[in-house]
Amino acid sequence: MENILQDIEKVLFTHEEIVEASKRIAKQIEEDYKDKEPVLICTLKGALPFMAELMKHIDIHVVTDFIDVSSYHGGTESTGTILIKKDVGMDIAGRDVIIVEDIVDTGRTLKALIENLLERKVASVTCASLLDKPEARIVDIEPDYIGLICPKAFVVGFGLDYEERYRNTPYVGVLKEEIYS
Ligand code: IMP
Repeated sequence: MENILQDIEKVLFTHEEIVEASKRIAKQIEEDYKDKEPVLICTLKGALPFMAELMKHIDIHVVTDFIDVSSYHGGTESTGTILIKKDVGMDIAGRDVIIVEDIVDTGRTLKALIENLLERKVASVTCASLLDKPEARIVDIEPDYIGLICPKAFVVGFGLDYEERYRNTPYVGVLKEEIYS
């Protein structure tokens, strides 16, 4: 029988480490938003497991929504535009928004998404990302809440995919090169 772990070169972050990181961010959010009721916007599909883990540890009122975006860029590297495949369902004007991301890599998606949300007159926007890959950054943007620092490798698991697979593991790992070469 095939199992997923056979395809993984190395487990980078165990489920326990991911849960701990999620709890830590949840407490920071509680503190920073104690007099507010933020909207957690989960970016589909990758951030879904992190959203589920994070939100259950936040002990203040929040509301949740989902967005599905893909980033694309033209001739220049520095500007990103996003294509919204599924938009949020609620009116976010005047709301304090927290984007819940799986990973910030080049930063293009996050930068473009923040710009898009600001155009909708949100009161504020921050980002909580499970993983941060600072060495891969191309645009100047940092998530406000960072779970774990990731090396510059292609990682899968806990929401992150390779060709739609591997999202369902409880850990994050590096894929064996033979899988994608
Ligand atoms: P960015 O716009 O380059 O920051 O990329 C953001 C998106 O690219 C993430 O939300 C992921 O969907 C995807 N991505 C970036 N790095 C990885 C990775 O190592 N594994 C899987 N997906 C990734």
